[in-house]
Amino acid sequence: MLFSPEIKESPTLLLGEKARQKEAEGEKIISLAVGEPDFATPEYIIDATKKALDEGYTKYSTPQGLYELRTLIAKENKHYTADEVIIFPGAKAAIHAALASILEPGDEVIIIAPYYVSYPAMIKLAEPKAKIIKLALNKDFTFPIEKLKEKITKKTKLLIVNYPNNPTGQILSFQETMKIVNLVFRNKIYLLSDEIYDKLNFSGKAFHSFAEFPLIKDQLVVINGFSKTYSMTGFRLGYALANQELIQKMNLVNQNIHTNTATFIQKGAVAALTNKPMFLIPYNNELKERALYLHEEINKLPLFSGVLPEGAFYYFMNISKTKLTSVEFANKLLEERNMLVVPGIAFGEKFDKYVRLSLCVSMDTLKEAVEILKEFK
Ligand SMILES: Cc1ncc(COP(=O)(O)O)c(C=O)c1O
Repeated sequence: MLFSPEIKESPTLLLGEKARQKEAEGEKIISLAVGEPDFATPEYIIDATKKALDEGYTKYSTPQGLYELRTLIAKENKHYTADEVIIFPGAKAAIHAALASILEPGDEVIIIAPYYVSYPAMIKLAEPKAKIIKLALNKDFTFPIEKLKEKITKKTKLLIVNYPNNPTGQILSFQETMKIVNLVFRNKIYLLSDEIYDKLNFSGKAFHSFAEFPLIKDQLVVINGFSKTYSMTGFRLGYALANQELIQKMNLVNQNIHTNTATFIQKGAVAALTNKPMFLIPYNNELKERALYLHEEINKLPLFSGVLPEGAFYYFMNISKTKLTSVEFANKLLEERNMLVVPGIAFGEKFDKYVRLSLCVSMDTLKEAVEILKEFK
């Protein structure tokens, strides 16, 4: 296979390795690089998973996923039936299967930068001859709808969006969502909407899934999963909603690569959906408090600035006044102050003047991080 330069190790890995080495030498690392919730997987999900093992859910299951689980997911999405849902070992696997099912050589795929770090590699792994068109958000992180219109050509096959967004934490307004729906419909392109952070929303602003718009149902793949909402990152459980034709193609990818998602893990997800996620209210409140604190403190500092996140659990901090690249900045923080952040370059070439800070740490850790940033020279 053609190994495109887009299929590369993230700069985070190298930094992470350095941080681990320091930890092994007994040093304390303040890591703001984490991309997973800081609460334990709910007990009832763990119990249901263990029970499933005891009850013998240890064999192959239908490749598309347990009907019981697909029915519960469909119930959350009123325009979809269980036949229009497919389960994968993680949202990443679902995205890859969708890309492999949609893309053909020469197709153009538009991704919005800053983007989730794995999109370029996943596109090239799914279709090495697809062309990636990167379109940057507006300066204030609003959606560049006018610029997007100009980027769409006859070769454009797919647009990928991710809201609530990793790394900016922004959420589309209803009007912006509608504008994208209309653009996708008029230009007859596919839309892949990665909605993995949909329930991590502390803005008071309603999040609208693209699954709410039947107008584009034939052109749409919605990706979601259990990693972020239920703190189930290690379970590896994601899913996609799409029309029957795409589901069938994605199922062929699934059958030939994964066979099925671990059966007892799917039973854990059934428990996740049959219990009310009461823990999400206090967690969103905590995220809000952390986001507000970080935003206020960062914007008081002469070297740094940022835009208040509305959802997900990251803060994308502008470091341009330091005159350092994002990798230089991250290395300096780690070398001199044992603090780990993700360099903005990982989210797109145009974002080398940013770093991503995680909100999935305690308030005390955030306070320590702010003290370090205050002293940064
Ligand atoms: C935008 C986005 N999509 C997908 C994923 C991957 O999710 P999963 O753990 O279900 O593969 C992540 C994880 O960081 C993410 O941020």
